[in-house]
Amino acid sequence: MLQPENILCREDKNCKDSNDRFFADVLDGLQSIPKTLESKYFYDEKGDVLFQQIMGMPEYYLTRCELDIFKNQTRLLNGYIAADNSPFDLIELGAGDATKSSYLLKNLVETDTDFTYMPIDISGNILSVLNKRLTAEIPGLDIITLEGEYFDMLEQATHISARRKVLMFLGGNIGNMEKDEALSFCMKLREYLNPGDILLIGFDLKKHPQTILDAYNDKQGITAAFNLNLLTRINRELGANFDIQDFEHYQNYDPLTGACRSYLVSLKKQTVIIDDKVINFEKDEAIYMEVSQKFSKNDIAMMAEESGFYIGGAAYDNKGWFTDSIWIAK
Ligand code: TRP
Repeated sequence: MLQPENILCREDKNCKDSNDRFFADVLDGLQSIPKTLESKYFYDEKGDVLFQQIMGMPEYYLTRCELDIFKNQTRLLNGYIAADNSPFDLIELGAGDATKSSYLLKNLVETDTDFTYMPIDISGNILSVLNKRLTAEIPGLDIITLEGEYFDMLEQATHISARRKVLMFLGGNIGNMEKDEALSFCMKLREYLNPGDILLIGFDLKKHPQTILDAYNDKQGITAAFNLNLLTRINRELGANFDIQDFEHYQNYDPLTGACRSYLVSLKKQTVIIDDKVINFEKDEAIYMEVSQKFSKNDIAMMAEESGFYIGGAAYDNKGWFTDSIWIAK
């Protein structure tokens, strides 16, 4: 899941706590043209459950493909990571439960590699569960957990140790940024690295458009429920009066740009009240929810180059649908 980015409150909005921030962001989004809502707010309790269900759907191939890479190409990946046998810090951005990376960690420990695993996550709770589980499952693993925003914790990691760095950013999360945001994100990551350091980064590849569209537009309506759940959350937490029946999920994939976008469409001309604010919807007006960008090998090569890396190698799942790319800092 994409970790919340550094959320800066505008001074004039006087954001005191996360609820104020949520309110300010929602209002900002719905008063914009076109209307938008930020996908980082999908993941409340219900949203987490729905996303688990999405990952279990036959159409949603992303998680399975990347797991296939980590399970079956562990040694290939570790060959790149541990290349010159020098000790290193393995830093994972948004580690979550580290299901995929634990395959690498096991193999690295088994092969007596000198490294420290530093998972970064916004959730302290996830990190303490992770710490306990990995320490039990992988005896001999050195682990330092870092709770907070990506860039704050990267800064911290560089203070803790000056060893060479291997950064991991998995799950195709980079695809949930607009292209220019993704590029500046990678350029910023590069600033925390020295020449020769590695970024291991996951990308969902361009493939048959129908395969992609189906992954985000399942027949059971789980993805629709996942998107609509944000309106329910806004009703509950911000006292709004969205009628969920009056909105419909619409998904679009453009094979030329590789952008797969989610929308919620207003089925009629209507007015929604959030706190004391009035939001007007035209019939068929769309709220833009999220992009899931798909990449060609050339797109990836260009992005690596433009952000100060060269490509050192890549691993693909058995269908060739997803890739974990090894970028080396220039
Ligand atoms: N962000 C993930 C992705 O792009 C998860 C996701 C699956 C998602 N289906 C979605 C996000 C629908 C927003 C809308 O794959």
